[in-house]
Amino acid sequence: MSGTKHTPLLSQLLSTWIEGEKSEEYPLANLSNAIGIIYQNISDINWVGFYLFNQKNNELVLGPFIGKPAVAIIAPGSGVVGKSFVASKTIVVDDVHKFSGHITCDVDSNSEIVVPIIDKNGNKIGVLDIDSPLLARFKNEEQSELEHFVQTLLEYI
Ligand code: SME
Repeated sequence: MSGTKHTPLLSQLLSTWIEGEKSEEYPLANLSNAIGIIYQNISDINWVGFYLFNQKNNELVLGPFIGKPAVAIIAPGSGVVGKSFVASKTIVVDDVHKFSGHITCDVDSNSEIVVPIIDKNGNKIGVLDIDSPLLARFKNEEQSELEHFVQTLLEYI
């Protein structure tokens, strides 16, 4: 092996899109296109969006998303979203019906992944949340790709 690092597809698509558009200084546009890129490139998902941390009110607030209208405000520690945020760790839920405290937004959802967004200074920005109608949709492969994607996104928000 040459030691050259392979950049996962989703991250490549995001950088190419943002740099092609020269939209680096527009976080809302970049967050919105990040959602579009995930929705178009991960199969069998029914909801994808961001919850962004509002420090003033200590709340996670719904950001750009695709899917059914969803809960707008989640407290840190509540649901999969709030638990991932507090723990600063990705949470993969194979069956949301078995996750204590899961917050239902779309009755079609059966599995979920939540990836925290934390900048290089340790500031907690929020989370990326994805739901699937399939049980156990999100494997190690998706987790690594989405964690890489969030790191790439941090360069543009
Ligand atoms: N299921 C999440 C709530 C957000 S919706 O999935 C869009 C949770 O338990 O935190």
